[in-house]
Amino acid sequence: MKIDQERARVTDSEVTATGMDEIRVLGGYRLQGKVAAGGSKNATLPLLAATLLAPGTYRFTNVPELKDVSTMLEMLSRFGIKSHRTGTHDLTVDSTGSHNAEAPYELVKTMRASIYVLGPLLARYGEARVSLPGGCAWGPRPVDLHIRSMEQLGAEVDIDHGYIVARAPNGLRGGNISFDVSSVGATGNLLMAAATAAGRTTVENAACEPEIQALCEFLVSMGARITGICRPQLVIEGVPELHPADAPMIPDRIEVGTLLVAAAITGGDVEVTGVDPTHLGATLSKLEAAGSSIEVAPDSVRIRAPERPEPISVTTRPFPGFPTDMQAQFMALLSVGNGASTIVDTIYHDRFTHVAELMRLGADIRLEGNTAHVRGLPALSGAPVMATDLRASAALILAGLVAGGETRVSRVYHLDRGYERLEQKLQALGASIRRVKA
Ligand code: EPZ
Repeated sequence: MKIDQERARVTDSEVTATGMDEIRVLGGYRLQGKVAAGGSKNATLPLLAATLLAPGTYRFTNVPELKDVSTMLEMLSRFGIKSHRTGTHDLTVDSTGSHNAEAPYELVKTMRASIYVLGPLLARYGEARVSLPGGCAWGPRPVDLHIRSMEQLGAEVDIDHGYIVARAPNGLRGGNISFDVSSVGATGNLLMAAATAAGRTTVENAACEPEIQALCEFLVSMGARITGICRPQLVIEGVPELHPADAPMIPDRIEVGTLLVAAAITGGDVEVTGVDPTHLGATLSKLEAAGSSIEVAPDSVRIRAPERPEPISVTTRPFPGFPTDMQAQFMALLSVGNGASTIVDTIYHDRFTHVAELMRLGADIRLEGNTAHVRGLPALSGAPVMATDLRASAALILAGLVAGGETRVSRVYHLDRGYERLEQKLQALGASIRRVKA
């Protein structure tokens, strides 16, 4: 049983004091008020990796305080890159003294996005040694598209003792890449490697997620020449070198979506600020389809939700489709819907480790391959549950907001990877929720 395997897989590096804290929620409180969303984790990680491309000082603002950000900064420090926070969400990065080194397994296995150093190392130093990330809670997550992209730019890539060993002794040269599958990470690595490759690189079926758009714009501000930004066809004209730049991190559209679902599941009335509504199209239209009324302003969204959501069908797709990172949160919401819903994840066919835990709270969910059939119930009942991955932990907290009695979510180190003080933000909106130290 995967969950049991998962239980057995917590390594000592993960069992830290905060990591084994519990989040305890008392259900039944309607959320209302205003809450600010933070900067995007999934934009911060590639932009930090891009500082390997040009030595110098970079100033970032709206940088979230997350475990994954600290892990990336720890990874970059192995390459001689220094960083320090100059304010709660401002970060200065100094890559003046950067040098090549290995991206070690003990760091890469804790965060798959570490693979974002592959393209920059190869572009800057002509070789890279990056550990394979391995699987995650919901199954294998291949990196073949990353490797093939580097090869299309002229690199030789081998897998040696669990490491990706890539070499481009004569430097990288432009190539034509067509992705069979839209991949955020592989598109990011390709962009960073192609920016200083000799000649033109064309990309078909590039990921168009806002985080990749942000990376393109950041690379252009560093001197890269990229056209077709936020379209699936990208053209990169290689330039001899790049220079440091400053950037604000875009809002975290998944944190925003999670806060909106927290309002929806409690029949609440909440305004989320620090938002870019153009990143939220699919999420907002699904919330409206489930019965909420949504008011959109230039940098905020207000949601007013009915007592119980209406049943809907949801299918995850690459941006601008419905994000897979919102799938678990919507499953919690639809578990208390006014009828039967279906959720299909076309991006990750096995991203359903949250199902077994939601069922412990009484949810009625039947899995058929990558389709979840959710029969909405008038109530869930609180119980101890275990977070298995980042978005699953958020989904369990959302379910706890509406479950009768107390829900205890353990292994919150998953939550802390991608949400900054979520329990405090929910508490400020009226939730009865607290973190209990291990
Ligand atoms: C990014 O992961 C996000 N992470 C994920 O968010 C998100 O779920 C995912 O994109 C999809 O939107 C970051 O941005 C740090 P992919 P990534 O490459 O880049 C397959 C979160 O919760 N694939 O777009 O790793 C893959 O198996 C995290 O914040 C290959 O087959 O995802 C999947 O089916 C979880 N070969 C599909 O492509 C490859 O070489 C999309 O994956 C790479 C990917």
